[in-house]
Amino acid sequence: MDLSKTLPTMVPCRICGGTVYECLDFGRQPLSNGFLKPEDVPHERYYRLAVGICTSCTMVQQVHEVPRQLMFHDGYVYRASGSSLMRKHFEHYAEHLLATELNGEDKFLVEIGCNDGVMLRAIHEAGVRHLGVDPSGGAARVAEENGIRVRIDFFERATAASVRAAEGPADVIFSANTISHIPYLDSVFGGVDALLAPEGVFIFEDRYLGDIIARTYFDQIYDEHFYLFSVESVRAAAEQYGFQLVDAEHMPVHGGSIRYTVARPGVREPSASLLALLEQEREMQLGRHETFAGFAGRINGIRDDLVRLLKELHNDGKRILGYGATSKSATVTMFCGIDSGLVPYICDTTPGKQGRLAPGSHIPVRTPDAFRDPYPDYALLFAWNHADEIMAKERTFREAGGRWILYVPDVHVI
Ligand code: SAH
Ligand code: TMP
Ligand code: ZN
Repeated sequence: MDLSKTLPTMVPCRICGGTVYECLDFGRQPLSNGFLKPEDVPHERYYRLAVGICTSCTMVQQVHEVPRQLMFHDGYVYRASGSSLMRKHFEHYAEHLLATELNGEDKFLVEIGCNDGVMLRAIHEAGVRHLGVDPSGGAARVAEENGIRVRIDFFERATAASVRAAEGPADVIFSANTISHIPYLDSVFGGVDALLAPEGVFIFEDRYLGDIIARTYFDQIYDEHFYLFSVESVRAAAEQYGFQLVDAEHMPVHGGSIRYTVARPGVREPSASLLALLEQEREMQLGRHETFAGFAGRINGIRDDLVRLLKELHNDGKRILGYGATSKSATVTMFCGIDSGLVPYICDTTPGKQGRLAPGSHIPVRTPDAFRDPYPDYALLFAWNHADEIMAKERTFREAGGRWILYVPDVHVI
């Protein structure tokens, strides 16, 4: 597969209508959360995963759109509360919001993509009026069982208008790891315009393009991540839709994320942190097509090193298991051609993934108990963003002589 094309495909930018030049092509990919029953394998759907950059507004985006109802539906298996790190992250931020934006009479928060309620839990427990909007019914019902109010639906202009009509304006519209999943940002911002109180804020966090490129986190690119946001591209998008980006805060979660705060123009002063990040991006040349040529070269290097290492270990008779059947792992296994011959199964805590086959690679997914039965010689850590939590939990694996294989920012064994 050739990642750095000399004659790139061009498509119109979803944000500004400018020209998007394709810069990375990962080839044929499955739905990254499409965990399969064996009888479903013949019907598995594939698409071409490719991203490009807009020469006008610099937004990095996918060249093809996977229809949303194929990804987000009642059977969507991802559960955000599976990580204690992320539970703490959101609990901490909910407390911050309760003490600031939500401190006052009858405040109202709407969350776009609340999933199983990992963030709304603390808002609900504080007795603050809230509503989650998420189309994935299975995850949303977990939130509802905990008393959280959810509307099982896609957030878009019409949904927001009907929430506004029924419940009044929102003081805060919050979203985490979801806005980058939505190609039709015009409708999302239109919905924010309909729903947000005049002085309200739209706050969202997402994985950061700067970290993805700096640390070669190529597996953050998969169907659901339609956009890879930078501060400059989010600034331009907010402006395009009649809003103003007023703050950007860099955070370590998921390998590096940014929390953006957007308001109506003139309502808030741009923060020093926002201006500093914009300056840093100019120095990094994050918005330039050329930056992706180096990224593509490093991705090919990781693939070659990882495949070489796995094959050498396999030929030496070593047993290698996968750890964390992440959405990211679909990109890695398909792009590198890793199958159950090299990695016989992947262990994962998510009930909806266990007993199924991972999309594309068809590597079986089993419970973490199967990791100890007996321990492998090596574990390929697909959930590298949860490395501290998982390595602490599986301390005895390493004490027994086991080794972890990581492939970002380069291939290494620890
Ligand atoms: N906020 C959680 C979950 C992120 S997973 C976290 O940060 O961990 C992304 C979620 O967005 C999924 O639950 C998915 O169903 C939801 N989603 C996808 N498109 C959406 C849309 N248009 N409106 C609202 N939610 C959406
Ligand atoms: P994520 O990278 O998209 O957050 O997905 C993490 C995956 O890793 C998810 O499928 C759950 C799994 N996981 C474990 O199996 N054990 C763990 O201790 C943690 C934190 C995650
Ligand atoms: Zn553009």
